[in-house]
Amino acid sequence: MNEISILFGTPLISSTVDLDKIKVGPTNLKKAYLSQTPNRSGIDLLSKESISYLKSKLATMVEEVKNLLNIKSCDLYIQHIWLNDYQEKDYQESHAHAGNGFSFIIYYDTLKCNTILEHPAKKEILCGQNPEEDYSIYDTHFALNKKNGDIIMFPSWLSHFVKPNSDGKTIAGNINFRKILKND
Ligand SMILES: [Fe+2]
Repeated sequence: MNEISILFGTPLISSTVDLDKIKVGPTNLKKAYLSQTPNRSGIDLLSKESISYLKSKLATMVEEVKNLLNIKSCDLYIQHIWLNDYQEKDYQESHAHAGNGFSFIIYYDTLKCNTILEHPAKKEILCGQNPEEDYSIYDTHFALNKKNGDIIMFPSWLSHFVKPNSDGKTIAGNINFRKILKND
């Protein structure tokens, strides 16, 4: 009998949010990233009620991966939050939010999802090949198919990028934990 284990799995948790409960405060956008995408960051981006709603939603998403991560209980907090308003084919280069627990993206006012997640071992799989010419059986890019009101959460070390688009707004952020491991 064959036995299968998935080693070093990468959880991607998807859900939906009630956009009526995500109230963005006054936006004073500043250019950010290589593409100079209009951006605003800071915990005051959202009203207190919205942050509280979002924290509860994120907690239910973390709950799904508690066993996988060997966490008995955790008290999450939103470390960073920002809004991107993609204009004129703005994009984001490949990056990760390492040093945090999970990162999330809310598709807040977008026509199309332009986020691409990258395989954590992309470099080793491609081994110098162009993804277009890669003959490996392993996919190195994962294109998400999300719509307004969807939210995703993934480990902050997972690289991702945003294809050039002028498609509107996403709200993203990083969360961290005061956690208690099962063996503690
Ligand atoms: Fe990001």
